[in-house]
Amino acid sequence: MFESSSSNERVPLSEEKQGSVYVQEQTAVDTARGLFYIESYGCQMNFNDSEIVASVLSEVGYQSTQNLYDADLILINTCSIREKAEDTVRKRLQLFKKLKRKKRGMLVGVLGCMAERLKSKFLEDEKLVDLVVGPDAYRDLPRLIERADDGEKGMNVFLSREETYADISPLRLDQNGVTSFISIMRGCDNMCSFCVVPYTRGRERSRDPFTILAEAQDLFANGYREATLLGQNVDSYSWENPETGETVNFAQLLRLVAGVHPDLRVRFSTSHPKDITNEVLETIASHANICKYIHLPVQSGSSRILDMMNRTYDADWYRERIEAIWRIIPDCAISADIITGFCTETEEDHQATLDMIRFAKYSASYMFAYSERPGTLAARKYEDDVPEEIKKRRLSEIIEVQSQSSLQHNQNEIGRTCEVLIECDSKRDDREFKGRNSQNKITIFPKAGSVGPGDYVNVKITHATSATLRGVIVAPSH
Ligand code: 5AD
Ligand code: SF4
Repeated sequence: MFESSSSNERVPLSEEKQGSVYVQEQTAVDTARGLFYIESYGCQMNFNDSEIVASVLSEVGYQSTQNLYDADLILINTCSIREKAEDTVRKRLQLFKKLKRKKRGMLVGVLGCMAERLKSKFLEDEKLVDLVVGPDAYRDLPRLIERADDGEKGMNVFLSREETYADISPLRLDQNGVTSFISIMRGCDNMCSFCVVPYTRGRERSRDPFTILAEAQDLFANGYREATLLGQNVDSYSWENPETGETVNFAQLLRLVAGVHPDLRVRFSTSHPKDITNEVLETIASHANICKYIHLPVQSGSSRILDMMNRTYDADWYRERIEAIWRIIPDCAISADIITGFCTETEEDHQATLDMIRFAKYSASYMFAYSERPGTLAARKYEDDVPEEIKKRRLSEIIEVQSQSSLQHNQNEIGRTCEVLIECDSKRDDREFKGRNSQNKITIFPKAGSVGPGDYVNVKITHATSATLRGVIVAPSH
């Protein structure tokens, strides 16, 4: 996932992955009920949710298949963040509808954010699917499937204030066996005016730290060497022990997970500029295995636009947080999310965003044209008045400036040696490995010695593009 840098693609939490398919190793289950196929879109959190769904289904005897045409149950885990994401899902649903006509008894279910946003629309108005299940209702899937088997439509879009799926061990799917994701919280209480997430994922709630820790320990025991802690706003993680009243904040959670083993790298996503504290920064600085990389979405460099976006910080506040990162973690890479063409955005606002990219020297950004989402504060309050051609032009200017910043960032690495965790073979050439350094930079290098995925190596950087570092192994690391 962290593969793109200065392109108009998503990454961390905010990633809008297109149609990756989860593949689960077939395991023999006595009570086999049938085969399910699950396709996931949207952010990493959504992909993690699909693993929870896979776990719930396997508990009741379903097995997964990667072949759509073999499936008795097709599930699509959806994203609503931009209109384009929803359009892609609609096209897939049309295809599934055709398959359904050919295969009697086959069920199709829509999960996730679109299910939550559109509720009964798919079931009743469009008769596209048999199941509609929102992000907090996955435990109810077996019951809903049974109802649908009996010819009734199964829908549960209830949003919970408590559900964190804390006790469900996700079935790790479609993974390299080295890097993994752990959801630490769900929902979002920030009412950014452009964003549909508070409506589709509900109120913010934090997961019990002991189950997070147990999951990290289990992953490490199973050979994983990197855990990314996921939440819409990880800095507001806060869990209160119901027995003692003691609270655990994000910095404390980071320390707990980093303590699992020095060879387990810890990452996290996404941070909110209003909430990221010096305590978190100091925790990152003082732990070698907490990666020196922070994804800190800015959205806009203009304080006027930030105010309309209801981000609750201004450009000066954001700059101060960047300076705090540089001061406390000098080798930290920073990336951002940027929206261009938000309501009323002028050329001057746009220039302020370009200035912010130059100031923050982002190693990467995930850049989007504003897409109005029904029901959001912005849709209700403001007119989406920046013409598409202007959005497009501004986006390409932003991509260009970011691309230069990424290149500069990477070129600074030439001649240096960095520690890289090997993830897998390079896609282009299986004589090479692909891994990432602490700063989250994709690093490609020729295979050498007896190291393999899951091992740390020191790589001397010899070449850099805006997206990738290339180098040679100089010595095994630890
Ligand atoms: N239009 C464009 N981009 C959006 N994002 C969220 N909502 C919208 C929208 N309506 C972007 C933000 C956020 C990331 C997950 O997606 O940059 O940080
Ligand atoms: Fe993730 Fe849902 Fe947001 Fe898409 S809309 S990025 S799936 S939380």
